[in-house]
Parts: sequence; C-alpha cells; structure tokens
Amino acid sequence: MSDNKRILSGMRPTGPLHLGHYFGVIANWLKLQEDYDCFFFVADWHALTSEYSDPTRIKGFVPGLVKDWIAAGLDPEKCTIFQQSVVKEHAELYLILSMITPLGWLERNPTYKEIKGELVQKDLSTHGFLGYPVLQAADILMYKPFAVPVGKDQLPHLELTREIARRFNHLNKTELFPEPADMLTEEAKLPGLDGRKMSKSYGNSIKLSEPLEEILPKVRSMKTDENRLRRTDPGNPDICNLYPYHKLMTDPAKLPEIQEGCRNASWGCVDCKKVLMESMEKFLTPLHERRAACTDERVAEILEAGNKKATEFAMKTMDEVRSVLNLDF
Ligand code: TRP
Repeated sequence: MSDNKRILSGMRPTGPLHLGHYFGVIANWLKLQEDYDCFFFVADWHALTSEYSDPTRIKGFVPGLVKDWIAAGLDPEKCTIFQQSVVKEHAELYLILSMITPLGWLERNPTYKEIKGELVQKDLSTHGFLGYPVLQAADILMYKPFAVPVGKDQLPHLELTREIARRFNHLNKTELFPEPADMLTEEAKLPGLDGRKMSKSYGNSIKLSEPLEEILPKVRSMKTDENRLRRTDPGNPDICNLYPYHKLMTDPAKLPEIQEGCRNASWGCVDCKKVLMESMEKFLTPLHERRAACTDERVAEILEAGNKKATEFAMKTMDEVRSVLNLDF
C-alpha cells in the first residue's frame, strides 16, 4: 500500500467557517493538497443526523461551505471536492456496514454519549444518530484512503472505522478495506474573542467571510491580559488572548517587538490591536477576493466535477463489495 497517497476528510455543512476552523483544520488541508491525492467532501447527510427536524438550512450551507473552502485556498485542480448525498453509493455501503456493526460498539462511542447529553433540546434517540459513525466509516472506506486527517474529537470514529473494516475483511475473508491511519492535525489553537474556545454558538468568532468593518469593533473589544489594569502596567503576552492571533497572522519578524512592547509597557493594548487589525486585513483580503470570485455557478461546476470523480471511484468499490458478498446479480 506504499503507493497509496489518498486521504479523505469531510465537514458537516452547519454554518459559515470561522478563523478557528481555518487554523485548526483548513490550514492543514491546504498543505496536504500539495502532496497527497485529497478527497474533501461536504457531509450533508451527517448534518441531517442532528438537523433532521429543520433540514432547510442545510441547503444554503452546502454551497457556503464550498465557497469558504475555495476562499481559504483549496484548489479544485489539486483536490477532489464533492458532496456526500450526491454519491448514493455512500448510502449503500452504510447499509451493508450497518449489518456487521455490533450495537455495543455504537452505544459505547464517547461522542454519542457526549453530544446526546449536550444537545438535550434535540431528540437524538434516533437510529441515524446512533449510526453516525457507521455512515462515517462508509464515507471513509469507500475511497480506501491510507489516512484521514482529523482533529482529536474524531479519533473514536476513526477507531470504529478500523474495527468495522477489520470485521468486514475477517467475516468475508477479504482484504478489500485497508485500515485507514489517523493523521492528527497539529492543532493551532486560536481562542475566541473572549478567551473561550472559538465557537459560533458562543458569539466569539470571526467568520472567514465577515467584512472587515464588522471585524474592527470586535477586535477593539477583545479581552487582553486581565492583569494589566493600567496602560503603564507591564503585560504578559503568554497569557494574553490577543497574542495567539499575532502568532498566527502577524509577520513573524514583528513578534519580538510586540512581545517586548507589551512586557515593558511601551505598547498599550490599543497599539497592539491596531497592528492585529492590519494583520487581519492582510490575511483576510485574499480570502475575501477569492470568495467574491467564486460564484454559485462556479460552486456548481466544482461539485459536478468532484461528484463525478468520487462517484466513479465509489462505483468501483461497490462492485467489489457486492462481489465479495455474493450480491453481484
Ligand atoms: N464527523 C466529522 C465531523 O463532524 C465529519 C465527517 C463525516 C468526516 N464523515 C467523515 C470526517 C469522514 C472525516 C472522514 O467533523
């Protein structure tokens, strides 16, 4: 399998991407697209597992997510971008894998218990929600990737995917599905504007598509080192919520000056925020330009080409699966 350079990853279309997604996930994808045969897909069926009572919003989020990806720098010439629900083979493989997946594996899945406990306002006592990792296993195994780049939170799902692959291979005396390795994203953590985890639901995020005029007041009111009460007090960038932003977005050559200015109080937080705003403008402007150039027609084109390529691959895998199961009528 040493010549297998395929990797695959997906995201649920649940809303616009923010800087936390960019630095936590997408920045890694941008590097990977240079060296690997990447498949990135919109997991719209997975969004349904929790949004089933009001699925209308998902429709707008699908092209929105593709635009965010293109804005961030994913290049459809270099990677395959597709939509899960268009490649119906995922549903067939999901059904087949569900036959061999013991209930206990799913009931013990830590994300199942956690999310069910968190989203108490939604009724997640559904077959679909319990089966979420089986659908994810189908997404992955379909393309026989050697690895799946994901964040830590997805590791249990990847482990289940390997267990399901092993069980399928064992039961059917085949080696059809290679066990995908995990490729842990080194997480560049960007805190939210208030210092908590950046999240849409906390209202502490900056969206990739957000106009600069709207970002400016948000940066102005960002929390800084809380021990620095007066302008003349020395600050500490190591505990300041602003500094991680500088580390990711400001020219590295400027960082020593920022550090020093903060520590010896020759800089105020207002100065620091001005520089950050300039850095953000520099960082976000090319993203905004790429997003503006990515029309709905362009999104449709990108998905059409990607869906075609993914479907061809998926059809081949399903031929093999049906043949192994003697379902090749
Ligand atoms: N569960 C993933 C998430 O919430 C999304 C996802 C669905 C996925 N299918 C996948 C990720 C296959 C990687 C591979 O982020």
